[in-house]
Amino acid sequence: MFSQIQYGGDYNPDQWDESVWLEDARLMREAGVNLVSLGIFSWAKLEPASGQYDFAWLDRVMDLMHAHGVRVDLATPTASPPPWLVKQSPEILPVTADGVTLWHGARRHYCPNSSVYRAHAARIATRLAEHARAHPALTLWHVDNEYGDHLAECFCERCTAAFRVWLEARYQNLDNLNRAWSTAFWSQHYREWAEIIPPRRAPASVNPTQKLDWQRFCSDSFLACFTEQAKILRELTPNIPVTTNFMHFFKSFDYWKWAAYEDIVSNDHYPDHSDPEWMITAAMACDLMRSLKQGEPWLLMEQAPSAVNWRGRNAPKRPGEMRLGSYQAVARGANGIMFFQWRASQGGDEKFHSGMVPHVGTNSRIWREVKQLGNELRTLDALTSSRVYADVAIVFDWENWWALELESKPSTDLKLVPRVRAFYRELYRRNLAVDFVRPDADLSRYRLALAPHLYLVNDASVENLKRYVAQGGVLLLNFFSGIVDENDRVRLGGYPAPFRDMLGIWVEEFVPLMKEESNSIVTDDEENFACAFWSEVIHIESAEVLARYLDDFVADQPALTRHQFGKGVSYYLGTELEHGGIAWLMDRLCAEAKIQTRAAPRGVELMTRADDTRQWLFALNFSDVETEIPLDGIGIELLENKTVNGQLNLPARGVAVVMVPRT
Ligand code: GAL
Repeated sequence: MFSQIQYGGDYNPDQWDESVWLEDARLMREAGVNLVSLGIFSWAKLEPASGQYDFAWLDRVMDLMHAHGVRVDLATPTASPPPWLVKQSPEILPVTADGVTLWHGARRHYCPNSSVYRAHAARIATRLAEHARAHPALTLWHVDNEYGDHLAECFCERCTAAFRVWLEARYQNLDNLNRAWSTAFWSQHYREWAEIIPPRRAPASVNPTQKLDWQRFCSDSFLACFTEQAKILRELTPNIPVTTNFMHFFKSFDYWKWAAYEDIVSNDHYPDHSDPEWMITAAMACDLMRSLKQGEPWLLMEQAPSAVNWRGRNAPKRPGEMRLGSYQAVARGANGIMFFQWRASQGGDEKFHSGMVPHVGTNSRIWREVKQLGNELRTLDALTSSRVYADVAIVFDWENWWALELESKPSTDLKLVPRVRAFYRELYRRNLAVDFVRPDADLSRYRLALAPHLYLVNDASVENLKRYVAQGGVLLLNFFSGIVDENDRVRLGGYPAPFRDMLGIWVEEFVPLMKEESNSIVTDDEENFACAFWSEVIHIESAEVLARYLDDFVADQPALTRHQFGKGVSYYLGTELEHGGIAWLMDRLCAEAKIQTRAAPRGVELMTRADDTRQWLFALNFSDVETEIPLDGIGIELLENKTVNGQLNLPARGVAVVMVPRT
């Protein structure tokens, strides 16, 4: 889609006097900026009163951008309805589970199922597209902003009615719904659609399947807001791609479903740089974004040039960290590096959020780093047609995430993403590219698949995972997987019932551990590892035991098993291992799957992008010490434009991008 690496950020010229704009354009050119996201929160300025439009200022900005070689990612401004619209139609406001109305004065104050809001949003999107369609700077559509941020559900009467319609489409009749929702429990049987309400505040936990369907419905409701606008934009400007900016592991919306409606995936990510492992969190987000459209290039739409303003204490990015994080995204498939925002605001809630042009102006570290990066990226345009290739997949599913984290479980501390991250961390440390995949995706090109805590799994996905193993794949499942169907109803017959034959085991009983409790395991090669959080009573049918518990009433019983199934092998882990144990297991899995891991000095990340003839090795030194990396043969280091032979020297917090012919 883009033959250049995109570089820029959110540009909010409407917050500034026009006298600043020319300086902005000049500085953008100086920093190598070639794309800005414009007008994201400009509704009140574009439509100052109902039906009265002012596009003149926008034209002046777009002309200026064009004259300076900067293209425009034009936003529909629908993330923040103007005060006049709320005054005119207060019914657009969202309502919480407690029945409280949320007002304007911030942003994102709209109900996704308000037909009034939707009509106004469609209208402003239409007028904007009609107006800007012929502008030569128009390059990309940015629909709304971070759908679901601050507000991902609304419990008003319109949403209640829409929920009933959505349920009727899913279940056709109430018998089906009553069965799926297990309404025989607690006298919840429904006789009329009109009896059904959203999971509003209730005396005790609301029916879990009702909540699960509510999450599906809320994701679909906001998705409809997006697709409605995307359709308008595609009709008016068929050649301009459409995106909406995601928030990586954002729980509320099923991004697998959403990404299908985007022309390019874009992501906003603000890892906490006070966390020494921020780069692992960031890498995992990048890999998810690349995976949402099966490896197609994506855009890092927003990151902070340095600190954010919305944590309790806001750590700046230390010198070099912004550059490292940016190259990490490129290494993991991004074809664009953008920021929030171009110029740090003078007023408003985000005035202490860093900007590419800080309050102090260009005599600043942040500006120098921004400028350096933008100019460096110009040398990497050739890699826009390349991709990242992964041998390892992690099965990740939003519906499972929702169901797993509903209340009333053996342990409500079982949160999916931190536990996925614990496995991901070991893959990261082995410099392995990881794709995230849906449970029903074709896995045949992966040597190894991990499916952490796949609690909810439908029949098609069960068959898919079994097929993968039967045809030669290596698959790890762990505790509390294969437990319920898509309606959150337990699959009977010994957990994890649908995978019993594949795993060669069955689980009789869960033994979750309390916070202060732990256990340990001994492996078949006589290693000992601590484990915590969970254990269970596993019975062997035809699997071999790779590790056993040492303590508690599960002592001597299996904790980790391996089973040949068809041409492949499945593993089952019944507990949570400390890092050392996961590392041991990952070595085992990689050996089983014949995966070549790549060793690198501590703190160094290696990642490769490739096209048909060339490959680009990214070496990122997140550590504070200079280091050397052995290289196979000769390549060209692109950032310093020099030949490297056999070895690469990386300064502390340094980056290298080495291009070599593909063998
Ligand atoms: C994002 C949002 C931006 C800005 C930024 C600050 O979530 O899209 O508009 O608020 O956060 O970090």
